[in-house]
Amino acid sequence: MADADPHSRAQFRSMDEGTQADWDIIAGHYKEFAPGGGRRVLDHLKLLDGDYGGFPVDRLTHSLQTATRAHRDGRPDDYVVMALLHDIGDTLGAYNHPDIAAAIVKPFVSEELHWITAHHGIFQGTYFFDYIGLDSDAREAFRGHEHFEATAEFCAKYDQTAFDPDYDHAPLSFFEPLVMQLFERPRTSVYASGIAESG
Ligand SMILES: [Fe+2]
Ligand SMILES: [Fe+2]
Repeated sequence: MADADPHSRAQFRSMDEGTQADWDIIAGHYKEFAPGGGRRVLDHLKLLDGDYGGFPVDRLTHSLQTATRAHRDGRPDDYVVMALLHDIGDTLGAYNHPDIAAAIVKPFVSEELHWITAHHGIFQGTYFFDYIGLDSDAREAFRGHEHFEATAEFCAKYDQTAFDPDYDHAPLSFFEPLVMQLFERPRTSVYASGIAESG
């Protein structure tokens, strides 16, 4: 299929006026736009550069350290990308940053990796919630869940350890191909079958 004309536009003023021709135009744009999500995610991740929030390393360095530790421990690429992106929501969701990362990775990863991303905040709290007036045992509410141990392990091995200014982490460029590849094609999405059907 030829590339969508970048200047083509649907004609409707409200969606209830939409026609097949309108939606063919929009679908054509979407098919070219959607697989490039990895690039946009990487651009957003860079917003964490220089953002310390009082921590010993900035949030991009923390993310790179988390991913590097997972990679060097032999984790598969999808796990490493999850580790890289687990705090990408820090700039947008100061009160629920794990939810944002979880939503971003959800179409592309297993249910287990999605669960780890969504719950890493409360599990990471094991290491500091007592210091800020919260309950460090809050994760116990999930004890027995099938992904409890995997999430505890993620925090113990890769997340809570990733604040060392002297750690020799890999650069973001090392992870870029992994991110681009993972975000090329969703495993699950309400839009996925529509994309496939339209070519
Ligand atoms: Fe986090
Ligand atoms: Fe983190």
